[in-house]
Amino acid sequence: MEKKKVIIDCDPGIDDSLALMLALASPELEVLGITTVCGNVPADLGARNALKVLQFMDRLDIPVYQGAEVPLAREYVSAQDTHGEDGIGDSGLPDVNGVPVRAGAVDYILDTLKKEKGLCLLAIGPMTNVALALQREPEVFKNLGVLVSMGGSFKSHGNCSPVAEYNYWCDPDAAAYVYENLGKSKACGLTEGEPPIHMVGLDVTRKVVLTPNILEYMKRLNPEIGGFVEKITRFYFDFHWEQEGIIGCVINDPLAVAYLCRPELCGGFDAYTAVETKGISIGQSVVDAENFWKKAPNSRVLTGVNTEEFMTMLLYRLCGGEESEIRKMMAYSCRGGDGL
Ligand code: BDR
Ligand code: CA
Repeated sequence: MEKKKVIIDCDPGIDDSLALMLALASPELEVLGITTVCGNVPADLGARNALKVLQFMDRLDIPVYQGAEVPLAREYVSAQDTHGEDGIGDSGLPDVNGVPVRAGAVDYILDTLKKEKGLCLLAIGPMTNVALALQREPEVFKNLGVLVSMGGSFKSHGNCSPVAEYNYWCDPDAAAYVYENLGKSKACGLTEGEPPIHMVGLDVTRKVVLTPNILEYMKRLNPEIGGFVEKITRFYFDFHWEQEGIIGCVINDPLAVAYLCRPELCGGFDAYTAVETKGISIGQSVVDAENFWKKAPNSRVLTGVNTEEFMTMLLYRLCGGEESEIRKMMAYSCRGGDGL
């Protein structure tokens, strides 16, 4: 199998950390590098967190580049209320010694695009780095395979305002720029008619919830990995209880990884999407599902996900064990008890 080469642009971030772990455990992907952007935490802290995850996964050979420290125009608002002061659930993981965080995430994205035809970008934080790269050298994006963006939503309510999801709300100008301009570069890795941006938004990520039951199962399958996941998600569980009254946490970013590996896990439709940059709807992704604007689709908007299969993939790849047993357990856990 030919691996998809990918740069992961992220803001770790509790769910970003899980996404990095899943990407590193996925045979479909070759992670060339990790870039960080200001989002959940400042970009330098995010880069140090990425190194901590790489160390845990024994993959410090992958370079980490720090990117934009502020959004394009808007004042920067972190999500440390959701992810902890340290960005990984106040887990107290020590910094990695002896491995540098490199500067120049945007240069790295552009240089890699020049070298790697069909390169995939997995953007699981605000899209500031991607927008800066696209603004600087739009022609290079002809080499892009696809941009999978965790962000936005179609019909699901927002998580930062009634209508806006955090990544697009944090840097609405970047998201708006990317949606408006990426389509024009006719990305090379696309099959005929496929839009360049695949939007893994809240409509689908809200359907993937890590529950205490599943976490307990992870610890039984693999105490080391399960223990690590428990350590970084405890804060996230508390946040979801206090804010949303649910026992469990929505793990957005790993679904974007899973989708890049196995697109059949999600379903959706193609449409033109724009992002609002001002006013009370700032950061909202406006999906023209009814084709009012008569514009060629720039996005594939995901609306459905096979939750059990995603959870099976996540647990099997992270924890090992018997895949068929995990699938049976996920049918039980995700359907609330009628699967065994
Ligand atoms: C997104 O925002 C961040 O808090 C998460 O890491 C995820 O990328 C969800 O809205
Ligand atoms: Ca993120």
